[in-house]
Amino acid sequence: PSSSSPPSSSSNNATQQRQPGAIIIGVRKGGTRALLEMLNLHPDVEVAKAEVHYFNVEEHYRRGLAWYKTQMPFTLPGQLTVEKTPGYFAAPQVPARVWAMNPAVRLLLIVRDPAERLVSDYTQVLHNRLTRHKPYLPLEELLLNEGRIDPGYKALHRSLYHQHLARWLEVFPMDQIHVVDGDALIKDPFPELRKAERFLNLPPKISPNNFYYNTTKGFYCLLSAGHDKCLDESKGRPHAPLSTQAFKKLCRYFRKPNKLFFEMVGRSFPWC
Ligand code: A3P
Repeated sequence: PSSSSPPSSSSNNATQQRQPGAIIIGVRKGGTRALLEMLNLHPDVEVAKAEVHYFNVEEHYRRGLAWYKTQMPFTLPGQLTVEKTPGYFAAPQVPARVWAMNPAVRLLLIVRDPAERLVSDYTQVLHNRLTRHKPYLPLEELLLNEGRIDPGYKALHRSLYHQHLARWLEVFPMDQIHVVDGDALIKDPFPELRKAERFLNLPPKISPNNFYYNTTKGFYCLLSAGHDKCLDESKGRPHAPLSTQAFKKLCRYFRKPNKLFFEMVGRSFPWC
């Protein structure tokens, strides 16, 4: 064989952009970035760094799968491509579209105490508005209407996990959806990563040595091949204030929805 011929793009070790074999579908503010970065520690995983918003944004979806693939990292055959777009979880049109792409795709859902998630969600929106010099109402004013929880508040709706999951379960079986405990991932990431590796059929290669607690950041950071990486300052910000009384109302409000969610996933979480 001629040694001068260029490597063929179809040769076995050619890198290509491929559809994801696994998608982190949400929840927004659940720890989706941390989970993606941590999965990326695995040598057989490559991740799309930016959120793709393919299945939930019409303008992107219309561009088709060829465009979707251009948003993916280059991988070798056998490597797993993962993307994360937290907006997928609560968007009604997404489950059927993901199924149409690949009915065998694996889905990761990272959840967190829905009351904490709501406050984190508000804090992010507040931050975005303040950087654009736009005013925003205090959380309590958005959340409460004449002293009662206002079900029309968007961030509240995003915390009703059972409603969104029910739509996914109309399309995908529960055993194709792996639920990651976002509160546990904050406190001790390694056990959650080991469970995710198992779900993704990956050999166990992520180790406790890939994580160290950074006292300045107040969160775990990542260590890989001598590199040290913490998530950026938009992850783990101090939360906007909310009175104890309002927080308690929120916890009470979520009690029933949480119970329904626990029944769906067959396990419970120590939420407020
Ligand atoms: P807070 O900013 O409310 O603390 P997402 O990436 O889905 O937006 O989630 C953001 C959340 O990830 C943060 O919410 C933070 O608590 C959580 N998180 C989990 N592990 C983290 C880590 N190692 N470093 C920083 N944030 C982490």
